[in-house]
Amino acid sequence: MGFSKSRPLFSSAARRLSASPASYLLCRSWQHQPKFCPASTLAASEPVGASLSAANISIERTAAPKEKLPPTKLVFGHTFTDHMVQIPWNDTDGWLTPKILPYQNLSLDPATCVFHYAFECFEGMKAYKDSNGSIRLFRPDKNMDRMSKTAARICLPTFDHDALIKIIAELVKLDGDWIPSERGYSLYLRPTLIGTQASLGVAPPKSALLYVIMSPVGPYYPTGFKAVKLEATDYAIRAWPKGVGDRKLGANYAPGILPQRMAASRGFQQNLWLFGDEGYITEVGTMNAFFVFQLPDGKLELATAPLDGTILEGVTRDSILALARERFDKDKWVISERKFTIQEVADHAKAGTLVEAFGSGTAAVVSPIKEISWRGQPIAVPLQAGKETGMVAEQMAQWIAEIQYGEVEHPWSVLLN
Ligand SMILES: Cc1ncc(COP(=O)(O)O)c(C=O)c1O
Repeated sequence: MGFSKSRPLFSSAARRLSASPASYLLCRSWQHQPKFCPASTLAASEPVGASLSAANISIERTAAPKEKLPPTKLVFGHTFTDHMVQIPWNDTDGWLTPKILPYQNLSLDPATCVFHYAFECFEGMKAYKDSNGSIRLFRPDKNMDRMSKTAARICLPTFDHDALIKIIAELVKLDGDWIPSERGYSLYLRPTLIGTQASLGVAPPKSALLYVIMSPVGPYYPTGFKAVKLEATDYAIRAWPKGVGDRKLGANYAPGILPQRMAASRGFQQNLWLFGDEGYITEVGTMNAFFVFQLPDGKLELATAPLDGTILEGVTRDSILALARERFDKDKWVISERKFTIQEVADHAKAGTLVEAFGSGTAAVVSPIKEISWRGQPIAVPLQAGKETGMVAEQMAQWIAEIQYGEVEHPWSVLLN
């Protein structure tokens, strides 16, 4: 592979967390004069009524706790805990009192704007039980930040991040016995914000509902990593510059299903989403994409697409970049957020300098890639001998799990009790 496996590639430097880059939204003044401004400016100039507060959460406990499945029977997103959060908002009173209620159906008028114009955004984050039985969230501030920016983009109300983390923490603690204590298991949290105004006019919703549901989940790889085959996709585009692919809108997901099914029908688990005539690599399925190349000077490059609006700013992506910048040996590694094309990947594969590739996301943390089909030709992606993963994906999965399960104390892991 062109580099010595006996030399350590990762150094143990001091921890340094990277700040998230500013993201930009259209300002209100845009109607008169096109102009971009930071999302936080929009959020700061918009609040009406009460801000979100965790001070007076009302809690109604279920009278009929559900039976819990044995952890080994859990299927992702199929089982939900006993309780949920509901926080209504309207444009005169602002955020109303947060409620923790028994998990229940929502009752909405058929004219509700979420059903017609996709006023919906969501987050995906996890709570973990550590070996002392304490509950931990992983970088919840990043999810709150992303959710606020997404909400602002579709004129749904933004909120105080700390307040929502506290409210979510109350829910997680109440249903804490739903988190299996075995390593690899966790509780997937789904904060969701919908427009609830019942009217067919296409306009900013005057009312909204923020709710949070939770689902216990098992390890993504119960029997060890499983590397996937991808189909490089350019006949459908997931996201484009100045679009909303960098926002976690429900509306971004349904259009990806048909290309995914088409790829699956040809034997590929996921799409490698390309953009433009150049074939820039953006994301893989619903994950960020990382590639490792060997450079002419013998160094290794960990490369991922930049936050240019065509990719979601993944919390896992950010964590991998921060850990690589902090712990990889700086004399041997280059960490890049840059544009690169499928042709560049094919050229590296041909030259024997494609080292590995993987996706990153909350559900699996890393998803190793073993093959990419590009215009009907396979590009083989190396794996470690006898393993279904490359070295970087394996190392990152381990480092991140150690933090998530509190085996290594780290500011990213937020202890709830
Ligand atoms: C389109 C897309 N890209 C990337 C990611 C990975 O983001 P994260 O690491 O925050 O889960 C997700 C998952 O939420 C996603 O939906």
